Amino acid sequence: MIYSRVAGTGRYLPEKVITNFDLEKMVDTSDEWIRTRTGVERRHVAREDQAVSDLCMEAAKQAIDAAGVDVSEIDLVAVGTTTPDTFFPNVATLIQHRLGIPPCPALGMEAACTGFLYALSTADKFVRAGESKCALVVGAECLSRLVDWTDRNTCVLFGDGAGAVILKPSDEPGILSTHLGADGQYRDLLYYPAGPSKDLHKIGTPEAAIMMTGNEVFKVAVKTLGNVASEALDANGIDKSELDWLVPHQANIRIIQATAKRLDLPMEKVIQTVQDHGNTSAASVPMALDVGVRDGRIQRGQLVLMEAFGGGFTWGSALMRY
Ligand code: UT7
Repeated sequence: MIYSRVAGTGRYLPEKVITNFDLEKMVDTSDEWIRTRTGVERRHVAREDQAVSDLCMEAAKQAIDAAGVDVSEIDLVAVGTTTPDTFFPNVATLIQHRLGIPPCPALGMEAACTGFLYALSTADKFVRAGESKCALVVGAECLSRLVDWTDRNTCVLFGDGAGAVILKPSDEPGILSTHLGADGQYRDLLYYPAGPSKDLHKIGTPEAAIMMTGNEVFKVAVKTLGNVASEALDANGIDKSELDWLVPHQANIRIIQATAKRLDLPMEKVIQTVQDHGNTSAASVPMALDVGVRDGRIQRGQLVLMEAFGGGFTWGSALMRY
């Protein structure tokens, strides 16, 4: 049996940092409110001249280096993002060319905060099917572009960044399983109201910004992420006590704590980046994975559960032996 295995990870955060104290000067909020309600202390924001593909490039280069592969070996690129440079070509195509990767399938996956797990799950299936020997999978976002910086309900939450992994085939596990889901009935709780085929003229104007009914999203997120974790463990006949690490979507520390509690996992076994990154949507899980790998906490062979939840709603998980 062929598994896909994470051979290397990388991340990139734009240099510009906005702290909660900076936000106190912009909207009617406080560091205390933001920290206690969300866990966020600071977030990184891309420069005007940085597009999502620029963020992807840096994260991808790190993952390629860490995996010890040459760009000529890469035969699949998958990028999860909701904030691409342009409507087309997709970001996967842009970075395939800029990195010097030979022509290959280049997949753009749009699933809001679950974008990376949608991309990872798809790439995993290519590798297992023998159709990819070296896949570059990226989650990246510039949600700062879609936020109304005068709306305290949303502007304190989000940040920009990119995370990447290289997947290679292996006889040893590897990704054990991935599980994706979506339910469009929740569309109105979290959405951006304009796009290329609807109200195009509103994009980038005060008429369009991220809309969220935060407390309703919160309730469904906690319930869904608990179920997502059980689904991944049950599918593999693995007990929650065997988990070494939870690498959760970093939307809100209280959501993360609720999922950890459901798994009986102490917070020491949870990779937390929400305080430094904010909610980076599709970039959140691969950046948290990279943090845990690079600081030496996540070791080869350990059991890692990744999960995410976002607009749609969409959700997903991946259980793997790192
Ligand atoms: O990544 C995709 C998934 N996204 C999520 O999972 C996000 C889920 N939701 C959340 O994380 C939380 O719901 C929020 C952090 C967005 C909000 O926290 P909350 O505890 O649910 O607060 P709330 O929306 O119920 O608002 C409570 C109060 C309101 O004031 P009143 O009506 O009680 O007077 C808000 O106006 O807090 C007020 N408020 C703020 N106050 C200071 C909302 N935003 C702020 C703010 N600073 N930035």
